[in-house]
Amino acid sequence: MDIHIVIVKVDLLGLAALCYLHVLARTGGYIFSLDKWSGKKCYMIAAKRLRIAWGDTPNYWTRKSLLESRFKEAAKLHFVCWLEIRGRIETHMLSPSTTYKAYLVYKLTKRTYGLDWPAVVKVGARAYGFDYECPGLKEITTGIKHTAILVPQRKIQGHLARHHEINEVRFPNESRADGWLEMELGEFHCQGDEDVKLEMICCETSMGKSGLLVQGIEVRPKRI
Ligand SMILES: *[C@@H]1O[C@H](CO)[C@@H](O)[C@H](O)[C@H]1NC(C)=O
Repeated sequence: MDIHIVIVKVDLLGLAALCYLHVLARTGGYIFSLDKWSGKKCYMIAAKRLRIAWGDTPNYWTRKSLLESRFKEAAKLHFVCWLEIRGRIETHMLSPSTTYKAYLVYKLTKRTYGLDWPAVVKVGARAYGFDYECPGLKEITTGIKHTAILVPQRKIQGHLARHHEINEVRFPNESRADGWLEMELGEFHCQGDEDVKLEMICCETSMGKSGLLVQGIEVRPKRI
């Protein structure tokens, strides 16, 4: 009898999560799911919900239809010097007493260039203010900046190793189940009693670059 009750509960939870996921995915540009290890909330913020500098200018960025992705479209970079991708989420959407990490989920294309140059990534609380310099970075008042290279370490040239302390640089993880790359943007602890707008950013503004396909930003509990 006990076993029977447990099974029913799991089924209902699964069903509720699926319905919820469907509605959110359609209306909000978020996919909600539960982390299979901890049962805590996870979100994927779709590319169309991200704030991408020049993202509405077709010479620079366009939308690309995807068959294999959970979202119907990704943002495709054709050319920019000013790469600035930001996502936002409010802490009340997340599970309390949990440390989260945020990841940019993307692919490189055959025409990728300029993306082996170090970008800055950060996650933190957002202060209200003007959006001017890349650095929307200045508007994020907490969190630690990190240096990130969007190209896998095995594909970059020796010059980067000479110019940067390679140990301090983040490279993408190539082991996602869906075959996309993920770059850790940062982490934050969600206590549960605060109501903070978190912002996640990836930014590089010094040189021309091309060949990036962005699925979204994933926010999920840190594995301990
Ligand atoms: C990369 O992702 C895999 C699968 O999620 C994980 O097991 C592994 O620890 C990650 N590697 C790094 C360096 O974070």
